[in-house]
Amino acid sequence: MKLPKADRVGRVSVEEALTERRTVRSFSSKLLDVRQLSQVLWAGQGITGAWGKRTAPSAGALYPSFLYAATGRGTAAGIEPGLYRYVPEDHSLSIVSQRDIRGELARSCLSQTWMARAPVSLVICSDYGRITGKYGERGIRYAMIEAGHIAQNIFIEAAAIGLSAGIVGAFIDGEAIKAMGIPQSHTPLLIMPVGYKG
Ligand SMILES: Cc1cc2nc3c(=O)[nH]c(=O)nc-3n(C[C@H](O)[C@H](O)[C@H](O)COP(=O)(O)O)c2cc1C
Repeated sequence: MKLPKADRVGRVSVEEALTERRTVRSFSSKLLDVRQLSQVLWAGQGITGAWGKRTAPSAGALYPSFLYAATGRGTAAGIEPGLYRYVPEDHSLSIVSQRDIRGELARSCLSQTWMARAPVSLVICSDYGRITGKYGERGIRYAMIEAGHIAQNIFIEAAAIGLSAGIVGAFIDGEAIKAMGIPQSHTPLLIMPVGYKG
C-alpha cells in the first residue's frame, strides 16, 4: 500500500519539537490521518538521499533496521487492522498479517496495557546479520544505536505534527516476535505507541 508523500516542510521548529517531546502513556481514541502515519514512518526510516540514504544514520550505510506498524480498527481511515512493514524504497506499507496485535504486543511488554490504546504501535527491529558480517559483535552495538536514532526521529516528528509517542524497551523478545509473527532474525529493540495525547 503506497503512502502519501511525506511533507518536507513543517510548521514547528526543531527546537519546539525537542521541547515538546515527552514519553506519553495515555492516548485519546481520536483517529489518525494516513498522512500522519506516513510522516512518522518517513521520519523513522524514509529515504532522503542518493544510495538509499535515510533520515537516520546507519553504520556503514548497511541499514539493518526494520520498522513495523501495528494497527487496529481505530488507527486511521483507509488503514485496515494488521501488522505492516514499512518499505523505505517506495514509501509503502507491506502487509504482514491482518490481525490487530496491539493487545498481544502490549502483553509481551510485561503487560503495559496502556500501549494497546494508542492507534498505532511502531516496532523498530534489527536484523543483526546485516551488520555483524562487516563489524562482528560490535555491529550489534551499532544496530542498537541506530534504533535509538530512529526512535528519536519518530518522537520529534510526532511532536512536530501534533501527535505524541511513548517508548518501550521492556518486553519479552520471544513473545513480541510471536505476537508479530515476524522472522526470528528481526530482533525487536523498541516499541513506540503513537497517537493523540489523551
Ligand atoms: C531504551 C528505553 C526503554 C524504555 N522503556 C520504557 C518502558 O518499557 N515503559 C515505559 O513506560 N517507558 C519506557 N521508557 C521511557 C522512559 O521511562 C522515559 O524516557 C523517561 O522517564 C524520561 O521521560 P521522557 O521521555 O518523557 O523525557 C524507555 C526509555 C528508553 C530510552
